[in-house]
Amino acid sequence: MIRFQNIKFSRNGREILKNISFTIQSSETVAVLGGSGEGKTTLLRLILRLLRPDSGRIFIEGEDITDLSEEKLTSVRKKFSIVFQDGALFDSLTVRENVAFYFREFTKFNEEQIEGKVKELLGFVGVEEAIDLMPEELSGGMQRRVAIARALATQESRMFLYDEPTSDLDPMSATKICNLIKKLDGKERGFIVVTHEIFDALRLANRFLFLKDGLILFDGTKEQLLSTEIPDLRLFLGDWREMH
Ligand SMILES: Nc1ncnc2c1ncn2[C@@H]1O[C@H](COP(=O)(O)OP(=O)(O)OP(=O)(O)O)[C@@H](O)[C@H]1O
Ligand SMILES: [Mg+2]
Repeated sequence: MIRFQNIKFSRNGREILKNISFTIQSSETVAVLGGSGEGKTTLLRLILRLLRPDSGRIFIEGEDITDLSEEKLTSVRKKFSIVFQDGALFDSLTVRENVAFYFREFTKFNEEQIEGKVKELLGFVGVEEAIDLMPEELSGGMQRRVAIARALATQESRMFLYDEPTSDLDPMSATKICNLIKKLDGKERGFIVVTHEIFDALRLANRFLFLKDGLILFDGTKEQLLSTEIPDLRLFLGDWREMH
C-alpha cells in the first residue's frame, strides 16, 4: 500500500506538487494522467523516495518512509519494479548483461542459473532474439520490453511502476507493451502507470488520477472519468470522449 499525506514538493521556487493525498493498494491498477510537466515523474520518484517532499508524509505498507536513511530505503525500493521513462538500459552492456544485472548484484545464482533466468525473462517479453545485441541496436519498443524484462528480475517486488511506457511508440508496439503490462497484472501485483496516452491508460487501468497544477483534480473509475464534468479533465480527454 502506498499512502501520500498532504505532499508538497517545490523546485526553484515553483510548486510542482501543492497538496497531494491518496492511498493506493498494491493490487490496484492505477493510471496517473496529466500533461507534460505536471509532476507525474516527480510523483513516481517520491514513491521511491528518490526525492524527498518539502512537507507531508509518505507511507509504504504502513511504514513512514519520509525521513528514512538511504540504507533503509533499499529494502523499501525492492518492493517496486520500475520502468523509467527513458527505458534507462545500460548503454555499454548487451541485452543479456542488462537483464542479468540484478541477478549478479543481488542474488547468489551461478552463471548457468542466471543465463536460464535471462532467457526466460526475454522470452516472456518476446525479445529473445535480441540477447546479444547492444541497446542502441534495438528499436524503441524492443528497448522498452528489455527494460520490463530487467524490472521483472526483481522478484520480490509487490508493485510495478511504469513511467510513460508507450510514449513515442507506434500503435503496434504500444499494444505489445500494454499486453505485456496486462499479462503481469493480477496475483497481488498491481501497477501504477504514468502516462499522457489516454487510450493506453484506458485499456490498462481500473482507477485514474488526474494531475493538474500540483493537485489531484480527479480520482475515480473509468466510467466516472469518461463522464466527468471537470473542464480541465474534459479538455485533456479531448476528442476521445466523443469518439467512444
Ligand atoms: N529535480 C528537479 N529540479 C528542478 N525541476 C524539476 C526537478 N524535477 C522536476 N522538475 C520540474 O518539475 C516539473 C514536473 O516535472 P515531471 O518530470 O514530474 O513532469 P511530468 O509530468 O513527468 O512531465 P512529462 O509528461 O513531460 O514526462 C517540470 O516543470 C520539471 O521541470
Ligand atoms: Mg515524466
